[in-house]
Amino acid sequence: MVRVSAPGKCILFGEHAVVYGHPAVAVAIDQRLTVSAELSSQWDIDGKPLNAQKHPHVEALKSRMWAHGPPLRVSIQGDIPAGSGLGSSASLSAASASCLRMLRGRYVDANGNWTEGWSSDEPNNVYFGHSKESFGENRLHGWDAVNEDESALLAHAVEASAQGGMASPIDSSTCSHGGCIVAFKEKLPELDWLYTRKLKHEEMERKWELHRLVIPEKLNSIKLVIGHTGIHGSTAKQVEMVRGKIQQNPSLIQVMDAIGQITKRGIEAFLSADPVTLGQSMNENHLLLQGLNVSCPELDALVEAAQLTSFGAKLTGAGGGGCMIALTSDPVETSRAIELAGGRAFISSLGGQGLRCEDDVGSLSWNPYEI
Ligand code: PMV
Repeated sequence: MVRVSAPGKCILFGEHAVVYGHPAVAVAIDQRLTVSAELSSQWDIDGKPLNAQKHPHVEALKSRMWAHGPPLRVSIQGDIPAGSGLGSSASLSAASASCLRMLRGRYVDANGNWTEGWSSDEPNNVYFGHSKESFGENRLHGWDAVNEDESALLAHAVEASAQGGMASPIDSSTCSHGGCIVAFKEKLPELDWLYTRKLKHEEMERKWELHRLVIPEKLNSIKLVIGHTGIHGSTAKQVEMVRGKIQQNPSLIQVMDAIGQITKRGIEAFLSADPVTLGQSMNENHLLLQGLNVSCPELDALVEAAQLTSFGAKLTGAGGGGCMIALTSDPVETSRAIELAGGRAFISSLGGQGLRCEDDVGSLSWNPYEI
């Protein structure tokens, strides 16, 4: 049996504007999902037969990494509320991809390069082009075979397919690497560049540069309080609604530009460990999101309540429900204020740990050349 956990995420700056080419900043949170997988006589998830509609991410990973593999029993546990903009599907995808990689292993050539997997042109045949003889030597399996970049890439690919072809890679990268991740169409020289991601959908190709923002130690004592409205907000509907509004009123694109500026200010404040400017930037970002009509009375009530005891607060993610976040040095008071205003509050550090192996017992489960 193998068990891997991955954190959820929240967007600190730049939601919606990222769709229009501006940067977005996300942090991993302490709330996590844990996926376990072991060989079984039939495919099931949490005791029920695998249902592609209910678990499109697991289904997509299965056909990509485990097409002819033996059935697995999968179980999913955790404390990331689903459908709330906290990255539960990216976390599930990244942890599941890592479990399959642990079980499957990988071959490493004499130069130490991976010779199969995610870069193959044959998505369903990850061992494409390698002989039976070469397989088995220099074999990595278990946690040694897992690579955060690969898990992030696979999670992005299956998120995109589950969402009809398009998804930004910020969730999948944040839930894989942990910490703080910045996505932008260009490289940002002040940050550690990780990789480029591209996605083609309906003749349109989008490209993102992903970066790591190393959170300064001085911010260690600052917490995030997440407030859940309990209302489900649909990301697809919110993005579509914003697109319609911009079509009707093209000057609204200036709001996106303003969010882009605030996001850049937020990144600078992060790098200079300045919680006051970070909080002010969050408050301003919330006002601009209200101007786009993506907030709702319940989110506004939680934001307003949290602002009194925090550096700043804003909705996080697509809005229309879901969650808000506050940056605070008094998380107990801020949580209390959010709960009094009708939300469910939970506390997180700023930038939780990325993918983590929780269990690795007998992970070399399947040699595809033995079938
Ligand atoms: O609801 P979430 O947390 O997945 O955030 C969506 C963020 C948007 O900018 C609204 C959409 C997107 O694809 O970036």
